[in-house]
Amino acid sequence: MAETDSIQEETEHEGTDDSKRDFLLYSTVAVGAVGTTSAAWPFIYSMNPSKDVLALASTELDLSSIEEGQSITAIWRGKPVFVRKRTAKEIESVKMTKLGDLKDPQSDTDRVQKAEWLVLIGICTHLGCIPSGQKGGDVKGDFNGWFCPCHGSHYDISGRIRKGPAPKNLEVPPYKFTSATNIVIG
Ligand code: FES
Repeated sequence: MAETDSIQEETEHEGTDDSKRDFLLYSTVAVGAVGTTSAAWPFIYSMNPSKDVLALASTELDLSSIEEGQSITAIWRGKPVFVRKRTAKEIESVKMTKLGDLKDPQSDTDRVQKAEWLVLIGICTHLGCIPSGQKGGDVKGDFNGWFCPCHGSHYDISGRIRKGPAPKNLEVPPYKFTSATNIVIG
């Protein structure tokens, strides 16, 4: 059975006014169950589904109101999922990166289904902190993506580890586009 859950999502809008922040009320449809929460993610509404139900859960997101340069945070199976509509400049920058410069070599094209949409599990691959970079005023690290302040891991705008102790790129969850602006994660 599908249930609808409203989640307040914090977004970022890059541009000339970097301090500008928008707040969207995002609606997701969780098929089977909705996500859980923890003290680290107080903005997430919890329903504590059982493990077997949780394992089947998928999350549908309508991306139509996300502008270029904006990010939102959704929840899938209790994990934060970062979704960013990348700018042409950001896409160009990750395409220019040489695989030989990467700790966990992976081309950007192998990490996205559409160049403008980046979908990542927002959990640092070192010891599991949530990296900063989703909000306009956040520290984004040396590669203009995400920065994990726990031990100093820097990720680029493809979610690839570029500096610091994290061994792997931010994970890309399974997802599919069900329309031009709708995705189902899981
Ligand atoms: S948990 Fe992210 S750098 Fe250690």
